[in-house]
Amino acid sequence: MALQPSLLHVSALVLFVLFSSFLSHGQSAATSCVCVSHDHDNKLAEKFPNNATGVLNATLAIIPIPLETARRLIPAQYGILERAYRALLPDFPQGMYPVMMQAAHDHDVQLRAYGITLEDFSRAGFEFPFLDLSGDGYSSFRWAPAQLISATNDIAVEGSRAYGTIVSPAKYEPLCDAYKRLPNGNTYFRASSVASSEFVELEMARVSFPKFNPYPLELFKNITNQPTFANATSCDNMIRLFNTTMSVGEHAPVPVRGRIKAHALPFEGETKWTDIYGVQVATPFIENNYLECESMRGYSGTGGPGDSYIPGPQSNDAL
Ligand SMILES: *[C@@H]1O[C@H](CO)[C@@H](O)[C@H](O)[C@H]1NC(C)=O
Ligand SMILES: *[C@@H]1O[C@H](CO)[C@@H](O)[C@H](O)[C@H]1NC(C)=O
Ligand SMILES: *[C@@H]1O[C@H](CO)[C@@H](O)[C@H](O)[C@H]1NC(C)=O
Ligand SMILES: *[C@@H]1O[C@H](CO)[C@@H](O)[C@H](O)[C@H]1NC(C)=O
Ligand SMILES: *[C@@H]1O[C@H](CO)[C@@H](O)[C@H](O)[C@H]1NC(C)=O
Repeated sequence: MALQPSLLHVSALVLFVLFSSFLSHGQSAATSCVCVSHDHDNKLAEKFPNNATGVLNATLAIIPIPLETARRLIPAQYGILERAYRALLPDFPQGMYPVMMQAAHDHDVQLRAYGITLEDFSRAGFEFPFLDLSGDGYSSFRWAPAQLISATNDIAVEGSRAYGTIVSPAKYEPLCDAYKRLPNGNTYFRASSVASSEFVELEMARVSFPKFNPYPLELFKNITNQPTFANATSCDNMIRLFNTTMSVGEHAPVPVRGRIKAHALPFEGETKWTDIYGVQVATPFIENNYLECESMRGYSGTGGPGDSYIPGPQSNDAL
């Protein structure tokens, strides 16, 4: 795949920053370790030492909004692939579009072969899937225009800004996990900008009967594996694996229902949604950064019927 010189430059820059951070953290590792995450270790680093890998422990929730609103918020040049989301969600209400809220903790991010590890961070933002970035009427891309990212992690903040993302450095509750448990049993997550009134807050309850969750896991696999862009100068290819010990058995995705309150772009002002459904799931990932978006045209995940299966000798069956 031919990277444009300007993108190569960005990658080199990010690598440089990663290195500098690694060196400076190496000297202060003992003092900077303020809390310990419950997230599982990144087991992909061993199998993909030359790639950026990590663990994302997330709440993924679908917010249905009127198509007209979606059309107003999403830049006009990107068509909305309604047929693509209706193929996965035949009963989705007419005239509506599924925005995804992703509230996540990024854990144990590594570029193993270079001895680089990134300090954990949290992030939250609205993501607009099923967009026709390449104009082929088929390939789904995901627009993630703005994020709240842990203010303590300059690399994550700048790495996201390099995509043209509007980043609000933020503080998080809880500090080192994807969510915490409230006395009433619900999970709680809050991101608050350190410089503005922007915030994202989620309170979710486990849905006991999966049949009450209107969204199949397939939908979340599909959306989270769509290439992401902000200003479309480059695209992020994050491969999320739902078929490892991290997301099956006792760690199987938990269907949740709850409320989201937010003041975050591209929505204006404070908005509150109730009766929102989603899933809490942790997945390991491989991330290929700053790709030319056009090179992702026709991309449909990494193969298999919607699953992120990596073909070849490096099967993920054994994880
Ligand atoms: C995800 O985060 C929750 C909350 O901290 C934790 O209980 C759970 O073990 C994590 N899951 C994985 C697979 O890391
Ligand atoms: C790992 O990185 C290389 C080089 O950027 C890339 O060609 C390859 O597709 C990546 N592997 C995966 C599984 O994405
Ligand atoms: C997108 O954002 C990047 C990083 O801030 C910037 O270098 C680039 O010029 C922007 N492109 C457009 C089309 O706005
Ligand atoms: C994981 O993949 C294997 C084959 O690659 C398959 O047999 C199994 O059903 C998959 N498990 C899940 C939970 O998707
Ligand atoms: C996502 O769903 C669309 C159908 O809407 C399908 O064409 C595409 O292959 C799916 N992609 C993945 C990665 O599952």
